[in-house]
Amino acid sequence: MSSLRPIVYERVEHLPKTFSVTELAPMARPAGAVLCPPDRFDVIDVKNPFMAGNTGGVDKALAQREWSALRDAFSAAGARVELLEPLDACEDMVFCANTALLGVDAQGRKTCLPGRMTFESRRAEVGAMVAWARAHGYRIVDDFADPGLHFEGSGDAIWHPGRRLLYGGYGWRTDPQVYQGVADALGVPVIALALTDSTFYHLDTCFVALDEQTVLVHTPAISVEGMDMARRVFARVVEVDADEARRFACNATLLAPGVVAIDRRASGTGARLRELGYEVVALDTGEFLKSGGSAYCMKNAFF
Ligand code: ARG
Repeated sequence: MSSLRPIVYERVEHLPKTFSVTELAPMARPAGAVLCPPDRFDVIDVKNPFMAGNTGGVDKALAQREWSALRDAFSAAGARVELLEPLDACEDMVFCANTALLGVDAQGRKTCLPGRMTFESRRAEVGAMVAWARAHGYRIVDDFADPGLHFEGSGDAIWHPGRRLLYGGYGWRTDPQVYQGVADALGVPVIALALTDSTFYHLDTCFVALDEQTVLVHTPAISVEGMDMARRVFARVVEVDADEARRFACNATLLAPGVVAIDRRASGTGARLRELGYEVVALDTGEFLKSGGSAYCMKNAFF
């Protein structure tokens, strides 16, 4: 029996030989999801490969309908939905996963680590997410990393479902050096996962933990060292091919335990998940795919 120390793990040799995820302390399940209506959503500042060629090409009315269906899917699954007020000139604010990591520290305190956005055009979003967290009883830890380092919140830092363990993606939007501070602020071990393909620029574009045993992952987008560690933790690794990954199959989100929302374009993955026993809610997030996002990053799970 051995648990994990709250440090950053970078290679499988650093994990205890007999480590099993079921020995880790339990972590609260999310109570719901913070969402931001897409009133100001647009593709303006091109920040990822999916956005190229889509500037000004958003169908605003369709985006509203797609977003409403996602919000309703969370509610129908029993999740509480909290809304942010959209800010002018924040066209990416609908992707509110990125502007903070929300969690619970080892003492049980609700804790918010504000995002440190890579792109200037997203920095004004952070205050709204932090204000929401403060108003909902979160302690805000601002000084978890040196100034100048980047950290894109729940887009790159992903909780293991139900366990005190975090996956920390890095390479494009988040600097690896932030994760020791994240581990310290939350009192949680972090498995660092290097992202190797600029198409899959946030961890949530290529990796989603579906339950304690299962991860859905596009393995070529994660370093060999990272996948070695992930395979030690997850009993079931469901691999997604490049075509499905480009349709944001791995940006699927849990609506509730066992209930997964996924873009309908990733139909092969949806069918696979149904075979594995998940309830699958196929949604259309086509307008948001133009900006390089889908269901997972259109919410920030709260506790
Ligand atoms: N247009 C946004 C950006 O590039 C999309 C963010 C999507 N977020 C995510 N976690 N995948 O910043």
